Amino acid sequence: MISDLSPKANGGETSVPSSGTSTPGGGPVPGAAAPYAIEVERIVKKFGDFTAVDDISFNVKEEEIFGLLGPNGAGKSTLIRMMTTLIPITAGKARIAGHDVAKEPDQARRMIGVIPQALTSDLDLTVEENLHIYAKLYDVPKKERERSIAELLELVDLAKWRHAQTKTLSGGMRRRLEIARGLVHHPRIFFLDEPTTGLDPVSRVAVWEMLGNIKSQRQLTILITTHYMDEADRLCERIAIVDHGKLVALDAPIALKASVPGSNVIEVQFENPPTDWEERLHNLDDVTSIQHEGAGMYRILTGNGSRTTTELVEIAVHAGVGVKSLSVQNTTLDDVFVHYTGRQLRDELQKAYAFVMPPRPGLQP
Ligand SMILES: Nc1ncnc2c1ncn2[C@@H]1O[C@H](COP(=O)(O)OP(=O)(O)OP(=O)(O)O)[C@@H](O)[C@H]1O
Ligand SMILES: [Mg+2]
Repeated sequence: MISDLSPKANGGETSVPSSGTSTPGGGPVPGAAAPYAIEVERIVKKFGDFTAVDDISFNVKEEEIFGLLGPNGAGKSTLIRMMTTLIPITAGKARIAGHDVAKEPDQARRMIGVIPQALTSDLDLTVEENLHIYAKLYDVPKKERERSIAELLELVDLAKWRHAQTKTLSGGMRRRLEIARGLVHHPRIFFLDEPTTGLDPVSRVAVWEMLGNIKSQRQLTILITTHYMDEADRLCERIAIVDHGKLVALDAPIALKASVPGSNVIEVQFENPPTDWEERLHNLDDVTSIQHEGAGMYRILTGNGSRTTTELVEIAVHAGVGVKSLSVQNTTLDDVFVHYTGRQLRDELQKAYAFVMPPRPGLQP
């Protein structure tokens, strides 16, 4: 499933008829629900000569939490914009609850809630006013509006802030408001574009927990983009890794991790290792790959964590090389990303943020 990413190979799902379950005779069952909440088939987006999304196919099951994971510029937002009818598709197809977004955009729009990457609530309105405006926009009947907004404010833990002006909220609270706003019209499919980027770790966890709560209370399919591996691992039932506009892997987090050769990661820091040290580490049994992270630090993937740890310590003692620190962990989605792209996601993010971080005032020469 992972090695063959041709359109038919993503779980064989794209070969399923696009709308309606089949009868034994092969025809669609009248009124039957679409088999997938989201179907994306060989989708392409070009901006001039530049291909931002390059022939991507995947399907999202009803009530699944599906993650799109990738570094800055991978094409995640572009994919969401195409799926949610915000920009035209250059080639290929996307269907939302069986509705082709190019041919039936209004029907598709009625099914979805979208939280864009940028914060878009009106800062001068109160929390409750922001929700009311959206509820009116989506024609939620007045009686239902009051009930739905009260329920959502509880759900996102903002009930006691309902009369606060949005500009007084913290970043995490604003994100929670936007999530509530995206749900006021009871969508079936919820798109969230990086809902936790820029939040501190505590607020990030609050957003995850909130999404888990929402999911347990509503029948909702969720497609979420992120570049936080831990988040994708914890929240998502399946993850598509996107890089340079291409789908490079798609599976459940556990299966993605199992697909990487080696079952453990050893992070070890040696004191002044000799120049041929990496080569010597490679010669150890069970070691499948090594990354030298500088300052004597190595990240070693191994099929047998305990045996490799013993051998590492033995060769270090034998060579008179000190071991400053050592930790053994299970493989993570970071290792999956490195395996499929040859690069570290965190390096990619650092590179990207190096361009956008403004210089700190007072620190310039
Ligand atoms: N309107 C546009 N015109 C030209 N190029 C665009 C446009 N929108 C996006 N791109 C380019 O397409 C590529 C994918 O961008 P996109 O915003 O989808 O990435 P992303 O995965 O969402 O990244 P991030 O994590 O930074 O949000 C980038 O190289 C971006 O510069
Ligand atoms: Mg984006």
